[in-house]
Parts: sequence; C-alpha cells; structure tokens
Amino acid sequence: MGKDTVRTGLNRTESRIFQLAKPYLQVRDNELHAQNAVEFALKLLALYEAERAVVIPAMILHDVGWSRVSEEITREASRPHADRQLARMHEVESVKIGREILEEVGYDGARVAEILAIIDGHDSRAETLSINDRIVKDSDKLTRYAKNFWFWTRQLPMEPEELAGTLEGMIDQWFFLPESKEMARAEVIQRRLEMDDRHDPYSVPK
Ligand SMILES: [Fe+2]
Repeated sequence: MGKDTVRTGLNRTESRIFQLAKPYLQVRDNELHAQNAVEFALKLLALYEAERAVVIPAMILHDVGWSRVSEEITREASRPHADRQLARMHEVESVKIGREILEEVGYDGARVAEILAIIDGHDSRAETLSINDRIVKDSDKLTRYAKNFWFWTRQLPMEPEELAGTLEGMIDQWFFLPESKEMARAEVIQRRLEMDDRHDPYSVPK
C-alpha cells in the first residue's frame, strides 16, 4: 500500500478505498484509468475550491460497476459517440459497490451521499451538480487523451490519428473547466508526438 500512496499522492483513507476498489477495476483499462483520473483530479483540486474528500473517493469508485456489466454492452458503451444510456448500468452498479466500500472504511455519511450522487450520473447526466462534480467529469474524460489513449486505439476500430482527431473535436463539448480543455489539448499534442516517433524510421524501436 505504501508504494501506491507515493505513486498516486493519496492519503491513507483514499489509499484504502483504492485497495478495496482494485478487484473491481480489472476490466477494460480501469485500474490505470482510475489512477490517471485521480492524478488529473488532484491537479484541478489545486486550482479550485472544491472538496477533495468528495472528489477523490468519487474518482476512485466511479467505474467499479463495469466489473458487473457484460462484455458486449461494455464494448458498445465504450465507443466515442456511444448512447449515454448504455453506460447507465455501470453507474448503478458503481453506486452499489461504492456504497459498500465507503461503509467498510467508515466514511462520513454526508459525504457518502454526495459521492454516490456524483457517481450515479457521471456519464448519463449532462448537467453538473457542483464544482466537485465538474472536476470528476473532466478528469474522467481527460484520461482518454492521456494514459488510456493507446489502450483505446487497440480496442476501437480506429487509427491513432483518427482517435486523436475525434477526441480533439470533443474538447469544447466535453469539458466544463477551461484548464481541463488546456490539459486535453496538451495531451493531444503529446500523443501526436508519440505517433511521429513510431513512424520515424530512425527511431529506436521501444
Ligand atoms: Fe471513467
């Protein structure tokens, strides 16, 4: 547990929640996704007056419900322009599992309610409830531009450049906070550099 704390910057309680969530994060790229989403959330928390004690548990737990959704629905729901309602099932399951985990660590009841409300609509609800919610929604999306990008190029029937272009086109529609838009644009630039590396005949194969 110590190593995780150092790597992700989580406090003791947050690390414990992450440990309990891990068994439910072994589908898709969800463990890396949750970690990366937490990293973005910490950056946004440094810029806004929001509640870390709500944002970070919501971020860790928001996708645990994918562990209970069929592979077929998961695949359909994961496409960039997928019907939002396809994601509804994992939200409902994430709330159930999330509640159990938060109870197990004895989390503050008032915060649990807000955390679960955020998880409940993190994909299907278009409007946001609070700055806490906006940070969760934006951080969730940011991972697609960052650590989960190469995973999705393997999962989706798209070339890296096509996925980068699609994601770039979603920036204004998806993100709520201006800093999130900037971070997304910076990540797209990075991914394009990585693509160039791959096509550079003089580069050393990784
Ligand atoms: Fe997510």
